[in-house]
Amino acid sequence: MAEKIMLLYSGGLDTSVICRWLAEKGDEIICFAADVGQREDWRALRKKAIRSGAKKVIVADVRERFVREFVFPAIRMEALYERRYHLGTSLARPCIAQAMIQAARAENCTVFAHGATGKGNDQVRFELAAAALAPELKVIAPWRDKSFNSLIKGRAEAIRYAEKHGIPVKATVKKPWSSDENLLHLSFEAGKLEDPGLRPPDDMFELTADPRKAPDQPEKVVVSFGQGFPVAINGSKAGPVRLLETANRLAGRHGIGRVDMVESRYIGMKNRAVYETPGGTLLMAAHRDLEGLTMDRDVMQLRDSLIPRLAALIYNGYWFSEEMRALLALVEESQRYVSGRVTLELYKGNATPVGRESPVSLYDSKVASMDDDGGAYEQGLATGFVRLHGLPLRAQARRAARAEPKR
Ligand SMILES: Nc1ncnc2c1ncn2[C@@H]1O[C@H](COP(=O)(O)OP(=O)(O)O)[C@@H](O)[C@H]1O
Ligand SMILES: [Mg+2]
Repeated sequence: MAEKIMLLYSGGLDTSVICRWLAEKGDEIICFAADVGQREDWRALRKKAIRSGAKKVIVADVRERFVREFVFPAIRMEALYERRYHLGTSLARPCIAQAMIQAARAENCTVFAHGATGKGNDQVRFELAAAALAPELKVIAPWRDKSFNSLIKGRAEAIRYAEKHGIPVKATVKKPWSSDENLLHLSFEAGKLEDPGLRPPDDMFELTADPRKAPDQPEKVVVSFGQGFPVAINGSKAGPVRLLETANRLAGRHGIGRVDMVESRYIGMKNRAVYETPGGTLLMAAHRDLEGLTMDRDVMQLRDSLIPRLAALIYNGYWFSEEMRALLALVEESQRYVSGRVTLELYKGNATPVGRESPVSLYDSKVASMDDDGGAYEQGLATGFVRLHGLPLRAQARRAARAEPKR
């Protein structure tokens, strides 16, 4: 029986070939493409989907939701995978899947398909998001399918298949790497970059200036936050999308947010990836700095201890899990007083905080001051504090002397 299949469609050669291949089997294909802020010719994408055999094309603008419900929450977590990756693709996948599922339900699709390969993280992210949000939805992943794989082994066969079936193949030479773009980042991997020792070519980068060629004058930027959410840049309030775009522009000009790393995929292998995350890097640096002023020490330690866990949940595709929900509640509470503003200097690849203020600061200049504090802090009390904290250390020292007298 013919099925109604919703295909996660990116407009690229691979998903177009997949679209035709699925349609050839007699099923009805609806292509779903999410606008997460990538630079894309949407009219051309629609046309290409139809030429590839789709009955219908749905383009959903999810930019606002992406930034508000995925990117900004990740900034509040200070979420970095393996301490460096800003999770640009990892955050977009559950957002794309969520919108796709909404559309699949409206269109009565019983199956969804995607063009993620069997080697990567994205298959996991799409399918785990679907498992959580629409457990009844079946999945087709052609790259893991023997009959598809034996037909299309590489790019040459994909092009031949496309030409045979009237799918437009871009005349442009394919770049020697593959990339993924959204409002948070542009990523590069595969191709030339598979040699982890090879320096990324200068002309690969698109969102950031080469730090060596960035302006010789530092630029001051003020980022304001309300409960951990970025709300204004240089005093002008804006919605999440506009804020992130502004942050991207400012930070990009100064070469901020490049990361070149080898990371651990969930599926098991190491992978070399290069990222440009200008605005996200700027906003996260500002956010971290404001936490210094406003966040309780122990709350910070607790939240920080969870960053590797939060980041792994996002990276591995568990955005919609109960564990994530529980941790998000903790993060929410931790951000209650993260309000105020931070001044940073942008200069040749760095966003350096140089000042911060908050109406709900924990900082007490009288108590902290090395000058005469007028009795705000009684130094004599510290004698007992230090003595008591030394108690276990003194016990350890005496025991060591008894147990190992010769050393
Ligand atoms: N913006 C998007 N909207 C819908 N599906 C997408 C989008 N981006 C990626 N996908 C899905 O994820 C798969 C993997 O994406 P990616 O690795 O970027 O490959 P490509 O973009 O070259 O197809 C795509 O084949 C497609 O199924
Ligand atoms: Mg893509």
